[in-house]
Amino acid sequence: MIYYYLTLLFVFTFVLVQADVKTNYTTTKTDPSKISIPDIPQTTSNDVATECAYYNSEYTVNPAEWPTIWDIATSNNMNTSQEFQDLYNSIDWASAPNIAVRKASATGGLDMTGYDTVNDPDCWWSSSQCTKPKHQGCNADIVNCPEPGTWGLTFDDGPNCSHNAFYEFLQQNNQQASMFYIGSNVLNWPYGALRGVKDGHHIAGHTWSHKMMTTLSNQEVLAELYYTAKAIKYVTGITPLYWRPALGDIDDRVRWVASQLGFTAILWNLDTDDWAAGTTPGVTPQTVDQNYQNFITMGSNGSFVNSGNIVLSHEINNMTMDFAIQHYPAIKNAYKHIVDVATCMNISHPYVEQVITFPNFDQKVNENASTATGSGVVPGASQLPGAATSVSAMPSIILIGILFMTIAFVMI
Ligand SMILES: *[C@@H]1O[C@H](CO)[C@@H](O)[C@H](O)[C@H]1NC(C)=O
Ligand SMILES: *[C@@H]1O[C@H](CO)[C@@H](O)[C@H](O)[C@H]1NC(C)=O
Ligand SMILES: *[C@@H]1O[C@H](CO)[C@@H](O)[C@H](O)[C@H]1NC(C)=O
Ligand SMILES: *[C@@H]1O[C@H](CO)[C@@H](O)[C@H](O)[C@H]1NC(C)=O
Ligand SMILES: *[C@@H]1O[C@H](CO)[C@@H](O)[C@H](O)[C@H]1NC(C)=O
Ligand SMILES: *[C@@H]1O[C@H](CO)[C@@H](O)[C@H](O)[C@H]1NC(C)=O
Ligand SMILES: *[C@@H]1O[C@H](CO)[C@@H](O)[C@H](O)[C@H]1NC(C)=O
Ligand SMILES: [Zn+2]
Repeated sequence: MIYYYLTLLFVFTFVLVQADVKTNYTTTKTDPSKISIPDIPQTTSNDVATECAYYNSEYTVNPAEWPTIWDIATSNNMNTSQEFQDLYNSIDWASAPNIAVRKASATGGLDMTGYDTVNDPDCWWSSSQCTKPKHQGCNADIVNCPEPGTWGLTFDDGPNCSHNAFYEFLQQNNQQASMFYIGSNVLNWPYGALRGVKDGHHIAGHTWSHKMMTTLSNQEVLAELYYTAKAIKYVTGITPLYWRPALGDIDDRVRWVASQLGFTAILWNLDTDDWAAGTTPGVTPQTVDQNYQNFITMGSNGSFVNSGNIVLSHEINNMTMDFAIQHYPAIKNAYKHIVDVATCMNISHPYVEQVITFPNFDQKVNENASTATGSGVVPGASQLPGAATSVSAMPSIILIGILFMTIAFVMI
């Protein structure tokens, strides 16, 4: 009985934390459960130059409504717009943790001078890889898939114009991944983003301009998160509730701002370093192959008998996507399951919009006994137990929570 009560308490608390999610970032032409993508060379070719030729789409960008592409999300006077001011003023900044904005170092890294790296009071991942917040009001990061023998498959920095062959490969293998999309890329390559949702991938945000978030002001952090979610919503019809900071640079101030929007960060516990091959001194394609090989070995040498991983990889370019394709068969042999993060965490609703439902872990690994569709819509899945993360219809869910709590009290 006490476990029953604790479970309810947990569900209730979780629902409360998520209660003031913003649900209407912009209007959209897209029904995310019925996506169709036009057959144009950019969406069908596997030739990089053809795929990456600019195209016009129905997702026109009115410059007045958006930050400058690839510039900080407060650019183009976004921070003085009524829309952004209203959002900014809806947040109780007096409750924000009092944490300094960090400085970039001369070499483009982070300057940690003066920070207490031993005690890490602000749970600054870049300093300590901390993921359990120390300040109130912050959603804890997700760092690994909990199920044994499970590879959490994630790709950052998309949608890339040149990703057709890669998404084809994933589709042929009936493989979903968590895709962390950059807001600027979504507006540049809308059909690429639509493909991600259509193929049932778990779409999450990866900021507007890919800056180190702890070096930005509260206002800038809010704008980076908000305009990325808005871009994804505008194009694909879904508003992601999960995101990943560029370079993992998050602390409790950034977590708190994200939590005000109802967003939770997904980090990783294994990093392929795929993006760095050939561009960072000391990192070659062989280094990255060896990283993959080590992670594959860990799938069969006992490292993941009690839990799983989340692996950081990228869809940035042909090379990083090829690493994933090359090693995929060996990963499949060494691990029991390869899944996206929404699935391994039983997050049945990773978006504000309830029309898309993800299978929970058990449903996914037994999927051929039931059904899964291209849009990630699993009919009837929302009725099944384990789907505890619904975020729509908050007031009524809270009421139901209170009702259950009362029942639990009476029963104890
Ligand atoms: C969402 O916002 C748009 C414009 O900002 C408005 O036209 C629309 O009616 C709103 N939708 C809902 C469901 O509130
Ligand atoms: C808007 O953002 C810019 C860049 O971050 C900043 O310099 C400026 O002070 C901000 N303006 C207001 C009114 O907050
Ligand atoms: C990489 O480029 C080669 C040569 O153009 C192509 O055959 C291959 O499909 C590409 N791989 C990916 C993942 O795009
Ligand atoms: C498993 O393999 C990894 C990569 O080679 C290695 O770092 C780790 O120590 C091994 N663990 C065990 C339990 O053998
Ligand atoms: C997308 O991929 C192309 C081709 O691999 C690459 O040149 C380009 O830099 C990538 N674009 C982004 C924004 O990552
Ligand atoms: C997911 O659900 C399964 C059963 O449905 C459960 O065994 C597992 O612990 C759940 N995982 C998480 C992360 O909640
Ligand atoms: C389910 O069936 C599809 C199509 O035959 C197959 O590609 C996929 O690997 C199967 N999934 C699992 C989890 O066995
Ligand atoms: Zn990135």
